[in-house]
Amino acid sequence: MIDLASDVKTRPTAAMRQAMAMAEVGDEQAFEDPTVNALNTRVAALLGKEAALFAPSGAMCNQIAIATWCRPGDEVICDAGAHIAWYESGGPAANSGVMINTIPGHRGRFNAAQLAAAIKPGWRHCPEATLVSIEQTCNLGGGAIWSLDDLDAVAALAHQRGLKTHMDGARLFNASAATGISVDRYAEHFDSVWVDFSKGLAAPVGACLAGSKAFIDRAWRIKQRLGGAMRQAGILAAAALYALDHHVDRLVDDHGNARKLAEGLARIPGLVLDPTEVETNLIYFDVDATVLGFDAQEFCKRLLAANVRMTAFDSRRIRAVTHLDVSAADIDTALVAIQSLASR
Ligand SMILES: Cc1ncc(COP(=O)(O)O)c(C=O)c1O
Repeated sequence: MIDLASDVKTRPTAAMRQAMAMAEVGDEQAFEDPTVNALNTRVAALLGKEAALFAPSGAMCNQIAIATWCRPGDEVICDAGAHIAWYESGGPAANSGVMINTIPGHRGRFNAAQLAAAIKPGWRHCPEATLVSIEQTCNLGGGAIWSLDDLDAVAALAHQRGLKTHMDGARLFNASAATGISVDRYAEHFDSVWVDFSKGLAAPVGACLAGSKAFIDRAWRIKQRLGGAMRQAGILAAAALYALDHHVDRLVDDHGNARKLAEGLARIPGLVLDPTEVETNLIYFDVDATVLGFDAQEFCKRLLAANVRMTAFDSRRIRAVTHLDVSAADIDTALVAIQSLASR
């Protein structure tokens, strides 16, 4: 199976499992796990923040950050395609009682003027915006990368208007690998930021949320409340440390494979995409059923029968994602399968 459904499909390598097996462990929530402590220290330094905490998932990092920064009735501003708005089961409302105010950005990104327009007047009738959240890279935006200029301008405007800034860094390392801009520079003007280990970095579980020491102290209470405080979590942190050592530099290979796949797909009649928009490891494309004779759902069904998996979002839109377990040769094989499926 060539599994292009998501970069979460990777399985820990033998060497990563070895590192996990050998991890020194202790009681994580009592700060007695040396491997978790080492991971938090390392990630805080990498992201240019004072402190970090380890959490079971990226979604939990988002939920912890929102609950730490906001009060019930506050508004969180984000792009219309943001993960917090679409894929966290209404967590911002359920866990923090906040409203989500979405900006119709361009491929997941918006600018300071759009943020300014989205902030409601300071009347007591209106919810108070207390947080702006951005994704680097943007998942539903096709892996698009925020420019530093836009990030800095959005953060400056947010701070000027009294909002905190949060960066969902599920694929922050992909942005950095693609541009050469360091992760701490991207996160410089963000009050909280997290990185995921279970996506491109190919660890089985885990994410780290970082910010000031005061923020992480408060965030710990929410982590505890959500059931995210762990015990001998060093086994998981060891996988994350292994990933930081071995799986960051290779992300450029995933980006090369994604570009190659996108260019191949664009040559197939009935598949609609602009390969120049593929900046990282996410590829979104449309199926023109009037040309192919079947829709995106059917496309993925037939492709699966040929041992290649992609995700159909609806009758038109498909996502393919490259990662550690997909080689350049797999991309060639997948393209041959798609070509034959399309010409049948
Ligand atoms: C942009 C973005 N944010 C958050 C998440 C959630 O991360 P996790 O699966 O670690 O909970 C994802 C997962 O796909 C994502 O793409």
